[in-house]
Amino acid sequence: MKTVLITGCSSGFGLEIARYFLERDWNVVATMRSPRTDLLPASARLRILPLDVTNEASIRQAIEAAGPIDAVVNNAGIGTAAPVELLSMDTVRDVFETNTFGTMAVTQAVLPQFRQRKAGVVVNVTSSVTLKPLPLVSAYRASKAAVNSFTETLAAEVAAFGIRAHIVLPGRAPDTRFGENGHGRMHGFDHEAYAPIAQQLMSSLTDASAPITKVEDVNEAVWQAVTDAHAPFRIYAGADARAWAAE
Ligand SMILES: NC(=O)c1ccc[n+]([C@@H]2O[C@H](COP(=O)([O-])OP(=O)(O)OC[C@H]3O[C@@H](n4cnc5c(N)ncnc54)[C@H](OP(=O)(O)O)[C@@H]3O)[C@@H](O)[C@H]2O)c1
Repeated sequence: MKTVLITGCSSGFGLEIARYFLERDWNVVATMRSPRTDLLPASARLRILPLDVTNEASIRQAIEAAGPIDAVVNNAGIGTAAPVELLSMDTVRDVFETNTFGTMAVTQAVLPQFRQRKAGVVVNVTSSVTLKPLPLVSAYRASKAAVNSFTETLAAEVAAFGIRAHIVLPGRAPDTRFGENGHGRMHGFDHEAYAPIAQQLMSSLTDASAPITKVEDVNEAVWQAVTDAHAPFRIYAGADARAWAAE
């Protein structure tokens, strides 16, 4: 029986990816910054471990405690939105620590066992915002675009060892806690110069007629990346992400 380790399972995509793999008879190591046992159905195939992707010791302990794993899903991530002129550099650093450096560090921690076994899959959840120069999300886009490039090189570097690496690019998924969790990192929307751009962005984000991404889309994309040896390197999750990719 195969084992997947997923980061950021306390809500949203991570929680649903964990549930999806559990329902398909995988062993699941669902990691969370603050572990909760009431979110997923009890199962002998489920382990819940603490993991803060910004903390090296936490990563090392979680990977040790998890034992052999067949796939890792770097899903943990945080959002931010602000005009470049008004970005808080502390916030930019926090976003890169989680989205970019956290993903790199967790990947690095699993590679030795993947290389020794000549098998393993790394799935990095980035975003379809990397496809378009959207205003106000420069730092978030940059943090995810860096992961796209990192993963491209990783895939080329480790293919000879039987290891695969993929990026899953979801579109906008209003059903998760992403917006709510990122609220404290949104700045400058009421600034005189930038308010019109912010309003335009907000109305496009709240347009009920626009296609969106569902958690099921992300579940299926991650499942394809992990289980299909011929899965494409980039997998777009959601109707909106696929439409942008086709533009
Ligand atoms: N929703 C969207 O529109 C969308 C679109 C494209 C891509 N994405 C990406 O999809 C991924 C999942 O987001 P989501 O929509 O499911 O949002 P979410 O509901 O906010 O989930 C984010 C998860 O990441 C965890 N996390 C944050 N910082 C962490 C850290 N330092 N260490 C470990 N876990 C941490 C959160 O845990 P806590 O409960 O501890 O905060 C939470 O479990 C993110 O990488 C996001 O960038 C989201």
